[in-house]
Amino acid sequence: MSSNVKRTVIVGGGVIGLSAALAAAESGHRVTVIDPAIDNHAESSGASWMAGGMLAPVTEAWFGEEARLALDIAALKAWPAFATKISRTAGQDLVINTAGTIQIALDIDDARDLERVRNFQNSMGLKAEALSRDQLLDIEPLLSPQVVAGSLISTDLSVDNRALVDTLKLACAHSGIEFIPQQVRRMTQVADRVTVVGTADGEFPCDDLVIAAGAWSSEILKMISTDSEHSIPVIRPIRGEILRLKSEITALRHTLRAHVHGFHVYLVPRANGEVVVGATQFERGFDARPTAGGVYELLRDARELLPYVKEMEFLEARVGLRPGSPDNAPIIDRVPGVANVILATGHYRNGILLTSIAGDLIAALIDHRDLPADAYLVSLDRFSGVTR
Ligand code: FAD
Ligand code: GLY
Repeated sequence: MSSNVKRTVIVGGGVIGLSAALAAAESGHRVTVIDPAIDNHAESSGASWMAGGMLAPVTEAWFGEEARLALDIAALKAWPAFATKISRTAGQDLVINTAGTIQIALDIDDARDLERVRNFQNSMGLKAEALSRDQLLDIEPLLSPQVVAGSLISTDLSVDNRALVDTLKLACAHSGIEFIPQQVRRMTQVADRVTVVGTADGEFPCDDLVIAAGAWSSEILKMISTDSEHSIPVIRPIRGEILRLKSEITALRHTLRAHVHGFHVYLVPRANGEVVVGATQFERGFDARPTAGGVYELLRDARELLPYVKEMEFLEARVGLRPGSPDNAPIIDRVPGVANVILATGHYRNGILLTSIAGDLIAALIDHRDLPADAYLVSLDRFSGVTR
């Protein structure tokens, strides 16, 4: 390899770090990904392995988060080409489920709320179609007979997030990217540049450094001396308990979502008969132990939508830590005061969706290329109101 090839070190091998690694390698960089979980994601509470896998800008559009929607929709549009590209590089197919999402009302009050949400979705140019009880039972025959009404969002997609991680890893391996299964412990900084990333067992020189350590990103940032005039928002871990069930028959085609007993619940089907049931959401630091209460509530609410849940095999109850920024939108930007460090985190509830565009944005920052106009939505400037 020529000596003027630049070395990029990426801290964190979740979907954001892996997609950044692929895009940087494609731009001609020599890339190393350091993550203690890289050989066994199942042992970590990193969000990428735990997620539901919904590619769902419409049903994840919350009141008050409209600004982020443009980014989420761009990511949805980019997904088919992204899946084709990484599948080709990996030499294995990553399949997207295109059946869509159904939002369900279980009583008349829910049906009124759902209509309000549908009006909001349609007012934002997002297509949500009303479904009667009969139509619901027609397209998903195992739904509870108690369902009252629903909305079909045919543009929402889903993907098996674990297959996504595996496909990205294989594509990285085929692109010559090096994996180091170790924890980053320290950085060496010379003036305004990080020059070496240190683990317990090694030192990794870098020309560029990407911090893509999800909920742990602020812990990594603490190892660097940044510009004290610009405070960088803290990324906090937001727990999500999530279950995996399995049945011999295909219990579902669509992703189901509902508001049951005051909680949001979703069921995401996989082609192999698995159904992912998620997810709770609250903050308790880095504690990743599932609670009996969380598991109980998810099963109770899932069963109200799909009584067949109680026949299914119980595979797993785990906790993933979502990386949350102060405004719940991602941060993909250069770190102020350090010339060669990029922060790529805060993908919160939508990191699987945003994987389709995050890598290219990060690679553009590494190469000092122009960013698209909506990159302001992921910049640090938005927190200080600065426009570039
Ligand atoms: P992570 O996947 O958390 O990866 C961070 C990595 O950094 C980890 O592998 C960790 O081991 C590593 N790391 C930590 N410390 C160090 C260190 N010191 N040195 C080296 N490496 C380190 N998004 C969607 O779009 N759709 C969904 O349906 C969806 N469902 C979700 C359900 C749940 C329950 C959760 C928790 C999240 C969900 N998300 C979903 C959000 C999505 O999973 C995240 O936004 C995304 O996975 C974040 O990816 P990441 O690579 O930034 O972080
Ligand atoms: N996007 C689903 C979740 O974060 O639970």
